Amino acid sequence: MKNIRNILCIGAGYVGGPTMAVIADRCPEYRVTVVDIDPERIRAWNSPRLPIYEPGLQEVVERCRGRNLFYSTDIPAGVREADVIFVSVNTPTKTFGHGAGRAADLQFVERTAREIVEYAQEGKIVVEKSTLPVRTAQALSRVLQANGKGLRFPIVSNPEFLAEGTAIQDLTFPDRVLIGGTDDPEGQEAVETIAQIYTHWIPREKLVTTNLWSSELTKLVANAFLAQRISSINSISALCEKTGANVDQVSQAVGMDSRIGPKFLQAGIGFGGSCFRKDILNLAYLCEHYGLPEVAQYWESVVDINDYQARRFVEKILEAMFNTVTEKKLAILGFAFKANTGDVRDTPALAVCQRLLAERATLAICDPKALDNARKELGDAGGRVTYHQDPYQACQDAHAILLLTDWPLFQTLDYPKILQGLPRPAFLFDGRNCLDHKALFEMGYNVYPTGSPPWTHFL
Ligand code: NAD
Ligand code: UGA
Repeated sequence: MKNIRNILCIGAGYVGGPTMAVIADRCPEYRVTVVDIDPERIRAWNSPRLPIYEPGLQEVVERCRGRNLFYSTDIPAGVREADVIFVSVNTPTKTFGHGAGRAADLQFVERTAREIVEYAQEGKIVVEKSTLPVRTAQALSRVLQANGKGLRFPIVSNPEFLAEGTAIQDLTFPDRVLIGGTDDPEGQEAVETIAQIYTHWIPREKLVTTNLWSSELTKLVANAFLAQRISSINSISALCEKTGANVDQVSQAVGMDSRIGPKFLQAGIGFGGSCFRKDILNLAYLCEHYGLPEVAQYWESVVDINDYQARRFVEKILEAMFNTVTEKKLAILGFAFKANTGDVRDTPALAVCQRLLAERATLAICDPKALDNARKELGDAGGRVTYHQDPYQACQDAHAILLLTDWPLFQTLDYPKILQGLPRPAFLFDGRNCLDHKALFEMGYNVYPTGSPPWTHFL
């Protein structure tokens, strides 16, 4: 096991930033540096206003920053000084060339390997923290070992399972930490060295060690299984709406089977976020690459149902509102892809809003943390989109209220007061099934849940 003093993380994003903050907090004897090519991001990490919103993150960063946690753009110095380098750069879906729309774009990862080779003066452990296609370590290894200086760079796969909005909690009390390495003594020593970091606060029995390929693949599979549960329950929500069953009741009863379990069975407008779609498409691409088209198709259907769910939501709105939303003001409650984050990457709210704009609706968007990011995605669409911190302002005069993100704030609004400012008939579409539909109906709203029949006052 190597002795660690300096840890470097390349990539100061949603994973690198919080993960390194928790490591610095829990391991005061390490000096942890996070570097990024984006100077704006680094400036923000060094400022009172962090570049991402994550409950509890500010406190951890403030405890460690300047003590043993540093954010910097100086990649050469960071690489030179590090004993261990975590690579936590983005791995988006490729948008061009071979595999466009499905394969992972590995240019950022490969660039980090080349930077390491260029600046390193001694060998160091390189940790794959980014989510990568299985066998990426082989490609990385080839770039790293071709360093011409005789340096060794053992590779470890240590994928991250944190979810946004609960990142600090997930990092502090993870279900497991996965560490994959090669079977040779060098690989095993590297695995043990990385394990040593986590044992500062995580019980040994939660550390799972595997070979490199199992670790890389497990990350894609974990995301695919989680997304699959959401698409499964969303597909059933469509059937519930046709049959009079209630999807919340179905998922509760199904989830009480201990073999199935209750989590990730909340029906809604579909999953969003930067990873589920990209990782499933990548998994499907890999299956095809290895000559398994049936397996690829199976996983792609998870994404197809997700797209269908957002489309279906808009079709439901159109049908209920007399087949037109043209020039109607619609209040959009929530734009982030889930509660407790400002992240809007692949948010289903964007797909819904774009479809409604194509129908020439006007949108008043309210979100506690995602308005800046929402503005970057949608702009003002020729004056047809406005942004509001205040939900009451967003709802004033709206023909319909659309709940698109499950922020707790939206569950405690004064809905009778909102109703007073609405034209009649008043419509409310609960895309996250988190409101009291019966109570809203009794107030006078026509309520359209997800996965159960509407509550309407129409005869
Ligand atoms: P992100 O886009 O927020 O951050 C990546 C950062 O890497 C960016 O700031 C970018 O400027 C920087 N970067 C890119 N190339 C660089 C280079 N050559 N040198 C230095 N910096 C460079 O991405 P993220 O959400 O943190 O995700 C990172 C990885 O972790 C992805 O593979 C993702 O799939 C995975 N992951 C993400 C989450 C999540 O919740 N967001 C959770 C688990 C795993
Ligand atoms: C997800 C995984 O949960 C993490 O384990 C993983 O590390 C991460 O992806 C990643 O690799 O990026 P995240 O996308 O941050 O985390 O958030 P989730 O809580 O998984 O939610 C994803 C989406 O599914 C959200 O849009 C959420 O609203 C939706 N969702 C979730 C549902 O529609 N129903 C549910 O029952 C659960």
